[in-house]
Amino acid sequence: MKWIILAGWSGTRLYPITKGTSKQLLPIYDKPMIYYPLSVLMQAGIREILVITTPEDQAGFIRLLGDGKKRWIELNYAVQPSPDGLAQAFIIGEEFIGDEDVCLVLGDNLFYGQSFWSLLNNAVQTVTNERKSVVFGYEVKNPEIYGVVELDKEQNAVSIEEKPANPKSNLAVVGLYFYTNDVIQVAKNIKPSARWELEITTVNEEYMHRWKLKVEVMERGFARLDTGSHESMLDASNFVQIVQTRQGIQICCPEEIAFRQGWISRDEVSELAKPLLKSNYWFYLMNL
Ligand code: G1P
Repeated sequence: MKWIILAGWSGTRLYPITKGTSKQLLPIYDKPMIYYPLSVLMQAGIREILVITTPEDQAGFIRLLGDGKKRWIELNYAVQPSPDGLAQAFIIGEEFIGDEDVCLVLGDNLFYGQSFWSLLNNAVQTVTNERKSVVFGYEVKNPEIYGVVELDKEQNAVSIEEKPANPKSNLAVVGLYFYTNDVIQVAKNIKPSARWELEITTVNEEYMHRWKLKVEVMERGFARLDTGSHESMLDASNFVQIVQTRQGIQICCPEEIAFRQGWISRDEVSELAKPLLKSNYWFYLMNL
């Protein structure tokens, strides 16, 4: 399985704050947004990741996350030259994916919950053993701003629509997708939508028509936070701040995860913390 974080073109709804920088570099409380999906993958033990960015902002991501292969993580980079849709990630990542299956996580999606590891693990098993692609549904109050999936009694998808005016369910399809390797061909064959983008929803529809799509519903109590509007970004920041302050632990701290996974030593944590001197983040790392 190959893992891609897409931190490409998005964020016009957040103008003017995303005019000068990528949305995924903006803060959610005390960390850049991309730390959250990155940490989710690291928690699942994943260390080799392709990060797709806009051409202009690639340097910013490299400055933040570092370039190339480190002992604890291997980050590869690619660019999405223009805003041509989420499904283009598989075409851009074709060489990186090779003949493996692939997981795509959007760089602006925040997930938080105990069961996340088993959720990822089950999805990998489904793709590997059942040769089906997996997407996740999450109950929301405002489905019209998402891809929306409708299920029958057996939990089979019967329709998937992108930002429908009259949603057929409250289940939003979240920004975490698992596909069999043929997604590269599927992405190459789909037609752009009315807004001239290769929609991930069209890819999902294709798998649904082939009876090769499994929809897992994220349970109650699981947090999937939004970053699509100023209000939802503020809510996400407040959520992180409340949990962190209450418990004295960091949500989605990549250095901590690498340490707890046994990928880096205490000394290496200190080394990584050095440039962050005097920030609360530095203090936290030094006290691990
Ligand atoms: C994109 C997808 C949508 C999905 C959402 C999840 O929407 O097009 O299907 O539900 O991500 O975050 P966007 O955030 O680009 O509006």
